[in-house]
Amino acid sequence: MPTSGLMQPFGVDVDLIEGIMTAPDRIAATKASDMRGYYQDAAALERLIESGDPLLYEVFEKRLPLEPGHVMFCISKLQPGRVGQECFMTKGHYHETAGAAELYLCLRGRGYLLMKTAEGQSALEPMYRGRLVYVPPYWAHRSINSGQEPLISLCAYPADAGHNYGEIETEGFPQRVLLRGGGEVIVSQAAG
Ligand code: F6R
Ligand code: ZN
Repeated sequence: MPTSGLMQPFGVDVDLIEGIMTAPDRIAATKASDMRGYYQDAAALERLIESGDPLLYEVFEKRLPLEPGHVMFCISKLQPGRVGQECFMTKGHYHETAGAAELYLCLRGRGYLLMKTAEGQSALEPMYRGRLVYVPPYWAHRSINSGQEPLISLCAYPADAGHNYGEIETEGFPQRVLLRGGGEVIVSQAAG
């Protein structure tokens, strides 16, 4: 038992339609201007920023001790839309503790969880309401919204996992999801 005493159990309310947590301790909001360097069409991103710099995604969290044994959980809400032809997506990251896995349960929307390893493997798992995706240890992960409504997921992972964005920022993922003429196209690329 910790010397500081036992933590009290608690519950939270989640609006499954709006994809928001009632009374979160923290909301991390990412706008178009935070996504420079991530999309293929940089000029289209600049146009989106100039047109009002919209909010692209939010993460709602409760504050928990960032210690082994605790399970961090959050609601991730990614808006629908495109930058040029490319579907809105999260930045994506490895965990700082690279051996920390994560669970994604899709609550609403449609899209993908794109994953990759430093060894060059990649995986693209479909996301839709009721789909649970397991992100194993050592796999970087990014959500992609290819639908027309918000892509909302419940995520759970070891509280001491941390986030490592640096490598994804420079290397990107080997695939991109585009919408062309109303249809989804998955394009492969070496990097970026
Ligand atoms: C936590 C996790 C998700 C993402 C969220 C936003 O480990 O994977 O909660 O943090 O979907 O994506 P990023 O953090 O890549 O901007
Ligand atoms: Zn993660």
